[in-house]
Amino acid sequence: MARIAYVNGRYLPFAAACVHVEDRGYQFSDGVYEVIAVRGGRLVDTELHYDRLWRSLGELAIDPARSRGALDLVLRETIRRNRLRDGIVYLQITRGVAKRDHAFPDGAQSSLVVTARRGGRPAAGSVERGIGIVLLPDLRWQRRDIKSVSLLPNVLAKQAAREQGAFETWLVDTNGFVTEGSSTNAWIVDDEGNLVTRQLENAILSGITRRVLRDLAESDGIKVIERPFSAEEAKSAAEAFITSTTSFVLPVVTIDGVAVGTGAPGPVTKKLCSLYAAHFSGRGRNAP
Ligand code: PDD
Repeated sequence: MARIAYVNGRYLPFAAACVHVEDRGYQFSDGVYEVIAVRGGRLVDTELHYDRLWRSLGELAIDPARSRGALDLVLRETIRRNRLRDGIVYLQITRGVAKRDHAFPDGAQSSLVVTARRGGRPAAGSVERGIGIVLLPDLRWQRRDIKSVSLLPNVLAKQAAREQGAFETWLVDTNGFVTEGSSTNAWIVDDEGNLVTRQLENAILSGITRRVLRDLAESDGIKVIERPFSAEEAKSAAEAFITSTTSFVLPVVTIDGVAVGTGAPGPVTKKLCSLYAAHFSGRGRNAP
């Protein structure tokens, strides 16, 4: 079936779905985005994604130009037109089309693009085998809490991982502490079985999967400590893992080629994988 995309008020065949050459997202990365999972034709953890989207828009003073309800209708109609059961929806809102000038334009209407596709799940076997990550300096700007489409350092970091045969890169700040992955949040498990992940601040994105998993872990009696951890601490941690909308919970078994713990997915991470899987499939507590 042909894919359909939504572009500024119109549902279009994928090949015809284009934005203007002077869209500020294209020229300045002046926009924000969300990636939301779809399961059984329904959006997962939608309200959390909309909360974060509205916050990102507010931080950049971009007028969404529509209510959450109107946006929700567009997303659901895009899912319907694509007959999508399981996959992801991508949505992007930019400051709109205007003559190129760095300062905000007067009167431009924000642009909305929505696409939907199958997939967006961990690859078969990756949960059982675990993944490798590499470490690189975090070269990004200082407002990583905003889910901006300005992703060039993230792109370079992910490419470096791929070139080294790893799945993801953990980014390290100038003090030697891990911030997050190029498109995922970073976690370790300490010797007492507690989860450690960096506290929410401008240095990281407030991941929706991070938030959901934190609540699921705490409901299950697993302690979550939000603090920075160093690259060295990560390498000698009992376990490590990543979270995101498309990775779910993925065990990290090597960091820069060094085995984490036993070098295989550990018991705490396995438990978290199953807690998240139950949440995702709607059987768990706090189900979407
Ligand atoms: N990435 N950190 C960064 C830098 C991210 O880009 C993402 C998400 C996350 C995890 O957030 P969430 O749990 O809400 O997906 C953390 C999306 C999936 C992407 O860019 O494709």
